[in-house]
This record gives sequence, C-alpha cells and structure tokens, in this order.
Amino acid sequence: MYRETPHPIHLKDYRPPEFLIDRVELRFELDPECTRVEARLALRRNPAATRGDGHLRLHGEHLKLTQVAIDGHVLTPAEYRVDGEGLTLHRVPDRFTLETWVEIHPGLNTALEGLYQSGDLLCTQCEAEGFRRITYFLDRPDVMARYTTTLIADRTRFPVLLSNGNPVARAELPDGRHSVTWEDPFPKPSYLFALVAGDLSVIEDGFVTASGRNVKLQIFVEPHNLDKGAHAMRSLKKAMRWDEERFGREYDLDIYMIVAVSHFNMGAMENKGLNVFNDKFVLARPDTATDADFDGIESVIAHEYFHNWTGNRITCRDWFQLSLKEGFTVYRDQEFTSDVGSRAVKRIRDVRTLRAHQFPEDAGPLAHPVRPDSYIEINNFYTTTVYDKGAEVVRMQAALLGPETFRRATDLYFERHDGQAVTTEDFVRCMEGASGRDLTQFRRWYEQAGTPELHIRGEYDATAGAYTLSVCQQTPATPGQPIKQPFHIPLAIGLLGADGRDLPVWLAGESAPPALGTRLLELTEPEHRFTFTGLSERPVPSLLRGFSAPVRVHDDLSDADRMFLMAHDSDGFNRWDAAQTLHERLLLALTNDVAHPIPEDYIAACRRALCDMSADRALLAEVLSLPSETYLSDRMTVIDVDGLHRAHRQLTQHIGERLRDDLLAVYHANAETGDYVFSPEAIGRRALKNLALAYLMRAGDEEGLALCHAQLEAAHNMTDVMAALRLLAEQGGAEADAALDAFHRRWAGESLVLDKWFSVQASAPRPDALERVMALLKHPDYSARNPNRVRALVSTFSNVNQVRFHAADGAGYHFLVDRVLELDPVNPLLAARLLKPLVRWRRFDSERQTLMRAELERVLGRSELSSDVFEVVSKALA
Ligand code: ARG
Ligand code: ZN
Repeated sequence: MYRETPHPIHLKDYRPPEFLIDRVELRFELDPECTRVEARLALRRNPAATRGDGHLRLHGEHLKLTQVAIDGHVLTPAEYRVDGEGLTLHRVPDRFTLETWVEIHPGLNTALEGLYQSGDLLCTQCEAEGFRRITYFLDRPDVMARYTTTLIADRTRFPVLLSNGNPVARAELPDGRHSVTWEDPFPKPSYLFALVAGDLSVIEDGFVTASGRNVKLQIFVEPHNLDKGAHAMRSLKKAMRWDEERFGREYDLDIYMIVAVSHFNMGAMENKGLNVFNDKFVLARPDTATDADFDGIESVIAHEYFHNWTGNRITCRDWFQLSLKEGFTVYRDQEFTSDVGSRAVKRIRDVRTLRAHQFPEDAGPLAHPVRPDSYIEINNFYTTTVYDKGAEVVRMQAALLGPETFRRATDLYFERHDGQAVTTEDFVRCMEGASGRDLTQFRRWYEQAGTPELHIRGEYDATAGAYTLSVCQQTPATPGQPIKQPFHIPLAIGLLGADGRDLPVWLAGESAPPALGTRLLELTEPEHRFTFTGLSERPVPSLLRGFSAPVRVHDDLSDADRMFLMAHDSDGFNRWDAAQTLHERLLLALTNDVAHPIPEDYIAACRRALCDMSADRALLAEVLSLPSETYLSDRMTVIDVDGLHRAHRQLTQHIGERLRDDLLAVYHANAETGDYVFSPEAIGRRALKNLALAYLMRAGDEEGLALCHAQLEAAHNMTDVMAALRLLAEQGGAEADAALDAFHRRWAGESLVLDKWFSVQASAPRPDALERVMALLKHPDYSARNPNRVRALVSTFSNVNQVRFHAADGAGYHFLVDRVLELDPVNPLLAARLLKPLVRWRRFDSERQTLMRAELERVLGRSELSSDVFEVVSKALA
C-alpha cells in the first residue's frame, strides 16, 4: 500500500508480457485468520515478446511466501527474491510449471481488495490489481489463462463454496471440512477471478438462451435477505433476453451466479460466471427500497451481465484501455434501460449525471482523456470520464454510423476479437471496417481531455427563405494538454415552425427536402456555417437533440424561444433541456441579485408543464426539478455557495406559493391507490406527486405539511416514506427528530435502510448539519469499515450538502480531511474517493480557497500516504 515515491505508469511504455500463463490450478484452504493458497501455473515464454533480462517477475503484495518450486524442484532462497511488489525468479526455462505456497489474512484485509471478510463471508475483489494480494501472478489483463480452483473450508461455517465456471467435484473431508472444485473453460485475465465462501441462501431460476441452452441462474444472499432478491432476478432475465435481441449476444456457461455482499468498495464486479455485488444493487423490497434503488439494481445487474461479452470474452490489453469495456458496457446498459423504459427520461438522467460530475472533472485538475496516458494508481481511474464520457464516445459512433451499420460494426468486433485482450483502437477499427468511414479525427475523443464548447448563432433571411447557423467549437486547456485540436462532433438538430411542428431541415444545395424531423450535422472544423432553405418563417432551432455529443452549448436563443421549445419540441430531451436552461438562468440571476424579478411567463410555463396530464409523469417531474446547487456551482466562475443556496430556496418557495393549488391538485391526482406497483407509469406518478409535495413543503404550506405527515404515516413503500422523511428532516424540529427516531427503531438491523437514515440527515441543509454528522460518527450503527455507511454519511454530506460542507469557517473541510486521514491506512481506495469535493478548490472565493488548500496540504504532509490518496492530492495541488 505504501510506496516510497509513487511512480507514474505510462501507456507509451506498454510491452507485451514476456511470459504467458496457459493454465492455473489454485487450491485454497480458507480461513479468515490464515488462508493458505497453493498455485500451480503453466508458464511459457511469449513468442510475441522481446527477450528481457532473463528474470521472471511476478506481482504479489501482502503475501507470506512459504515455498516456491519450478517443475517440482523446491527453490532455495538464493534462486529468488521477494520484495513489497512481488517475486523475482532469476533464470527460468522457456516452458515450466511454477508452484507457490503463500499465506494471507482475509480477516485483516480492510482494503477490500483481494480476499477479504465481509460479515461471516469470505469473498474477493480482484479488479484492477487485487489478484496479486491472493497469489504471485502476472497480474495484468493481457495474460489470459484457464483456471481450476479448489476451495476447502469448514463445512458448518462455509457450507457454500463458489468460484468461476462450473462445479466439477465435491468432497467431504474427515476433519469437518469439505471441498468444491470449479473449472472455468474460458481463458480469462486474473482480474476476473472470484471466490465466495459462506452460509448463503439462494434464489434460483432458469433461462433458456436463443439457441435453446438451459442456464441455471442463482442469486446468493444472507438467509435473512431471501425475500429481497426477486427484482434482481427479474432484471437479470430481462437483460439476458435484451442482449440476445439487441446485440446478438448469448450467455456462454451453464450457470450464472450473483452474490450480494455488504462490504464492497464499488457497485459490483463482473467476475466470470460469478458476479460479486454491493448488496445495495441486489436487495430490494417495496418497503425497504426506493424506486431509484429498484432502477439502480436493474441497471447494475444488466451492466455486469453485459460485461460477459464486453469485458470478459473480449477484455482490455492494459488498464489504459479501461473505457473499452466500461464505456461500451455503460452505453449498453443505458440502451437497455431506454428500451425497457422511457428513452427520454433515461437520457435526461444520464445527462444530469454527466453534467453534474463529468463536466466538472473534465474542467478540473484531475481531467484526463477517456483513454488516459498515465496513472499512478489505476483505482483512481474508475472515473465518470472513463465510464460516462466513454459511453458518450460509443454513442456518438453509433449515431455517426446509424443503427444498422453500428450493429454490423459491433458484430464484427465480437467476431474479430473474441478471446482477445484489445484496445480502444481495435474497437474504432471495427467501426471503420463495417462502415467504410474514416474515424481518424474522431479518435481525438479518446485522446484529448476537456469538454468542447459550441457557440451557435442563427440568422434568418426572409427574402431568401433561408436560415443560417454558424457553429464554432473550442476546447479549454486541461493539465498537460494546453492546445486542443478540433473534434469530430455529431450535432443533431431540428427546426420548429410557429405552430410548434418540425420543419424540414433542408440544407442549401440539396435538390429535395429531407423527411421531417431530426438531422445529424457533422462538425470537424473550428467553424462551420450551415444554410437551410425552404423556410417561409424564422424557425426556432432545437440544438443538440438527444444530447448528441458531450459538449456545452452557448446559443443565442431568447427565453421566449426556450419556453416555446419547452412546450413544443418533438425531442423530449430538448423539452427538458430548454426548461433546465430557463431554471438555471433564473437561479444564477437570483444568486447575483436577490431582487431579480421572477417573470410571469416563466411561472406560466411551469404551470403549463405541471398540468400537462397528457405527458409522461416521469418526464414532467424532470422538467420541473430545478438543477441542483452542486450542478449550478459548476456554472459560476467564482462559486457563491451561500448565494446559490438562498436563490434555490427563493425560487423553490416562489414556485410553491404561486402554483400552490395546481401542486395540491397534482399531489392528489397522483396519490397511491391500492397496492404498490413497479412500472414506469407508477414510478412516474410517485415522482411527480413527491415533487409537488416538495414544493409545497419548501414553501411552508400548512396543507403540504399535513400531507407530508400523513404520507409518512400511511406509506407502505420506501419511495414515499423517504420523500416525506427527507422533507421533514430538512425542516428540523421536534417532529422531525421524532420521525427520524421512529424510522431508526422500525429499521434496526436493516443495514441498507439504515444507510438511508444516515444520508437523509447528512443531506439536510440545516445550520447544525455538521454537528449532527459529527454526532452520527459516534452512533453505534456507524462503522468506518463499511463503505456504504461511510458514503451514506460522509460523502453525502460533502457532495450533496454543498452549503453546509462549504461553511465559511472551513469546519466541513477539516472534518472531511480527518476522515480521509483516518481511512487511508484502512481503505485507500475509499479514502481517495472521499477527497474529491476538495479537488475543485480553485473554483471558490479566496477565503475558501485558502482553507481548502490548507486541508489538502495537511493530507500531503502525512509521511505515509497510499498511492491512491497521494495521486489525488498531489494532482489537486499541482
Ligand atoms: N468492473 C466493475 C464495474 O463493472 C468495477 C470494479 C472496479 N473496482 C475497483 N476496485 N477499482 O464497473
Ligand atoms: Zn463496468
């Protein structure tokens, strides 16, 4: 964990491995205190590699080596060397069997990488470089091997023993132990290895693939969670069918297993045939999980399942290529969610995330390309840029190729690279191969960091009946990349007539007008002019429909144009986006000037949207949700946290007062009747109803307060309970405390529900928020060892509760750094992630800058820092 001087790894230094490993046989004697691992590796020199110094270096960390043998001969200590990073064998044959015996201590592994203990379970997390904490190995994704794994453990403590592939042998041993042997027929990189041991209950189902093979589906949970796995199972079967239909991908093993564990650093992990999940993305019952939780489960289950092809069958050559699997797999899970639900709503949510997290990352000191060219700690590169911007880069290629050609291109990719470890370059070559297009310039999306800015102006020439759009692109400098080349940008646009309908987007020079609707323009130069003809009236342009590229648009539309788009645009995403821009401009104006008038036509537009009962409720709820304070802060040159908070409250309250009767009517019209249903329609009703309630509560409406209490009492689903509890907690006072206490009593022992109890208090922007959060650190249910709990309390406070975290006295900063320093020796991956809100310190006023910087320097001043935290803090201060 502690490196003397953390050294960056560069993409340009990539060399193929000198040795390959064809077969791996592992034997685990599992025990939380001391697990013995015996590994037998069939190694041979890689014919494709240049010969090095003749030594073989294997990765290995935190291992106690007890014996090592080559071709059955035990080595003497003079024949090898062990250091903090691995095992070096001086002189080895061209082809040989290596055996090692090591001891590891899963019970003491708090980093949650490698083999660790979660409650009474033993489980693994090997991506990116955790396998080297299990045994000595060439722990890099371009070394792919076939694994046979034997697990031996106490029969009563660990009745279930799982690993990748198919179970091939079982035995009862005389000493109260038993063993199971697993064989995985598919060669895989070490990061996809997994094992799980424990007393688990199983939910079983089956799936018949398109070609008629039977697959056994198993979801393993702790016995008391057996009634919370149905939604995950339904999601899995949906995802399996969808991948056959949309991408022609079938599952390949006879068994697919998912295990829910309560201690997990990330969302989930796609280990071959044996996914290990953060239980937050498996367990749900209507009374314990919100609609957002149900959605999250469906998409993470799908994401990990889709990795079986995009990640596992075809994997990454090296970790710089991470977006090859993550960007593509996020694109696939987004498409899945769009196809099974509402495409516009899904797009809105994804763009909200992108703008709230990826844009700021791309504009800050940690900006990096989708395919980075250097890193110190790979765990720091599981970022929104690699994942979400990476998905946008795949989406743009799909748009440029069109659906049929894109499908041919992905078919080609799966056929050409099955069983290989490849690069993003290989992916783009398949896009080119299937389409005949030249994507040379497009590749810059993988290489250049930063969010391009588009400046768009429109001009109408009445006599010529022509409308001209001039479009300029420009990308700000990012660390290490001062000058940017122009990007190849797909810009989808529409033109609206005065009646609100789409006009033909007819480019001057074309002999006939195209079909009505959206048209894809391609930008490749710093400046373009597009002239459209056949227009007898000035059109209102609908720009960047469906958010066709991850860029920021600056246009010359008036507020009236935006209200027009908000009401009429045939593109649901752009109706939302027009509304968001209106909200945003007004909120920023109010931030600068408390007396800025709130226009009547704006209120009227909000009312029209609220009462438009013909529209999708979920979409309406998105249209009427104001942009978050965190998102808005990214839109200011110098962030004014207090002004933003005040403006947000002011506008919310104003809308709540002005639309009071409509909000009450909407609340009642969408109130739950009868049993809870999980359908897009029902979710939309709950979202709109709870949005109405929020406006009423925040406007201090008496009737709203009564409805809120009544909802908290009567609700039988967690969505409605949390909506009400959140609003009460925000108000504070004895009633709120009583409600929080009752909630805590009701859900004692339900860990995922208790996380909600912590986060609802951490996010309430009350003046005493930090005091409360500090008191909660001492609560018997708080544990720094459980990442979900740490995130619920500490990350929620520092990321969501912007106004209190950034309190002018710097107490929030000090609090966060205390947590980071406490956690770094325990769980460096998590500690590095906690630091993120301090990274954008340069965006604040000079007093806050000084305070934030001092706290970052306090971190850097620590003598022993993990490479994870060191990289984040040193780049933040650079
Ligand atoms: N591959 C996982 C996913 O599906 C993420 C695992 C990352 N884990 C880590 N320790 N860096 O997104
Ligand atoms: Zn993934």
